[in-house]
Amino acid sequence: MRYSLLAGGKRIRPVLALATAEALGQDTDEVMPLAAALELIHTYSLIHDDLPAMDDDELRRGRPTCHVRFGEDVAILAGDGLFAEAMRLVLERQHGDPERVLAALHEIVDAAAVSGMVGGQYMDVAETAADIRHLHELKTGRLIGASVGSVLMLNGLGEPATISYRRFAAELGVLFQIVDDILDVTGDEEALGKPQGSDERHGKRTYVSVFGLDRARELAAESHRKARTALDEAGGHTARLEQITDYILTRQT
Ligand code: IPE
Ligand code: IPE
Ligand code: MG
Ligand code: MG
Ligand code: MG
Repeated sequence: MRYSLLAGGKRIRPVLALATAEALGQDTDEVMPLAAALELIHTYSLIHDDLPAMDDDELRRGRPTCHVRFGEDVAILAGDGLFAEAMRLVLERQHGDPERVLAALHEIVDAAAVSGMVGGQYMDVAETAADIRHLHELKTGRLIGASVGSVLMLNGLGEPATISYRRFAAELGVLFQIVDDILDVTGDEEALGKPQGSDERHGKRTYVSVFGLDRARELAAESHRKARTALDEAGGHTARLEQITDYILTRQT
């Protein structure tokens, strides 16, 4: 668990949670357990995603993958353990009105569940005929969305006040995975810290395999524009969220 978690990584999900707190005028320290829980769940998903039965990859965050280093049995347990520790972190450490903390946790669990990341990963490995955007909305979009949404819930902010924030977060999640698909083709392995060309090797359906590289880039730009527009409409101190949105489009790692 420590090996994979502390290997680095961009920390996009927790940073998004902190930036959302900032946008709402909340002290970022107050959402730290929630933010860390998102990273624990994300790291569990990476460990399992790399397993031989899934993407069968041997490099992650610049290190041999968890199962290469510790064996498949330990890697499966590390993933399981990280998920449970994420729940514990929020339940034991997250301050706030208990009803709001539960609502925030509910948001995260929903995003990780069959209705979210696991459902999307299933569509990916089972090669279902699902629409590619829908697949991306679930496998990556929902947890990124919950990185914003859980902080909204912790602040007791429901719809309709938060419709633009939610539209922003959902679009940002899809943008993130489109760019991930592009980087799998164009990225530098050392910079990425994970294997380049993994999707093609495994015949994965990605934005690049479905639309081609040029169109995938256009769709990424379109998605970025939509996310920025939604953010403009959201109100609040969104400068940091704007920076993150731009970074997600232009990142090389
Ligand atoms: C990779 O996520 C897996 C996807 C959901 C696309 P990241 O690109 O956020 O990986 P790290 O956390 O920086 O290693
Ligand atoms: C994985 O998507 C999304 C997860 C939920 C982990 P990918 O399989 O494209 O992620 P990478 O490219 O291996 O990081
Ligand atoms: Mg995968
Ligand atoms: Mg993978
Ligand atoms: Mg990928």
